Amino acid sequence: MVIIKNPEQINGIRASSQLAAQTLKYALSLVRPGISTEEINKFTHKFIINNGAIPAPLNYEGFPKSICTSINNVVCHGIPSPKDILKNGDIINIDITTILHGYYGDVSATVGVDKISSETKLLIERTRTALTKAIAQLKPGRSLNKSVGVTIQNYLAPFGYSPVRELGGHGVGIHFHEDPFVFHYRHPDGDIILKPGMIFTIEPMVNASPNWHVTFDRSDGWTVRTRDGSLSCQFEHTILITPTGSEILTQL
Ligand code: MF3
Ligand code: CO
Ligand code: CO
Repeated sequence: MVIIKNPEQINGIRASSQLAAQTLKYALSLVRPGISTEEINKFTHKFIINNGAIPAPLNYEGFPKSICTSINNVVCHGIPSPKDILKNGDIINIDITTILHGYYGDVSATVGVDKISSETKLLIERTRTALTKAIAQLKPGRSLNKSVGVTIQNYLAPFGYSPVRELGGHGVGIHFHEDPFVFHYRHPDGDIILKPGMIFTIEPMVNASPNWHVTFDRSDGWTVRTRDGSLSCQFEHTILITPTGSEILTQL
């Protein structure tokens, strides 16, 4: 069941989303060759706590850290580690979810470490554009899947990229993951019509190949990787459906 949020809940989720976005900005400022993802996790954890919030990933279904750090062929849910040291030419997605006064905000972005190839820059720019194009379609009365899934898939296909299918966006705010499941490709089954007060994420994970398949790490239980080893890139926003369109709650 999709929760329609009331004005008080919307204000709470907006505040948490703004903190998540500020935290993401801070985390991205730490990215440089030689830093480990564990160091980024440690500093970012402190930032969230110092702002009166809780990092939602920590202990979520057993997740051991406060943020997700996903490097190169890691699609999402990468676990920060002192062994993962960033180097020139890597790309990294940092995913931040905060709980502030009980409300959740969820946001992520991908950046290059130092100098990345022009090909990789294009992957990052096009993934960001896919998210922006989907958001531009949102409006009460429209179909969620036509606005988001179809828009993203159609935009990416000519580049030879593919949106991952096993994972998607989600309702968010009162809980970490709520209905609806937000497909990033055409999937008419179970589609819904957008209504004011809905809040969900759009978070396309985009593989730099036509192969959308992923693997789930069986030893750490979390890390998702591209099956063919290609790079994968992701951007995420938490979005409110308003009477006239949408508001990006995680936009600074
Ligand atoms: N923030 C992720 C999302 O966008 C979820 C991470 S779950 C975790 O849905 F446990 F890995 F943190
Ligand atoms: Co999310
Ligand atoms: Co997230």
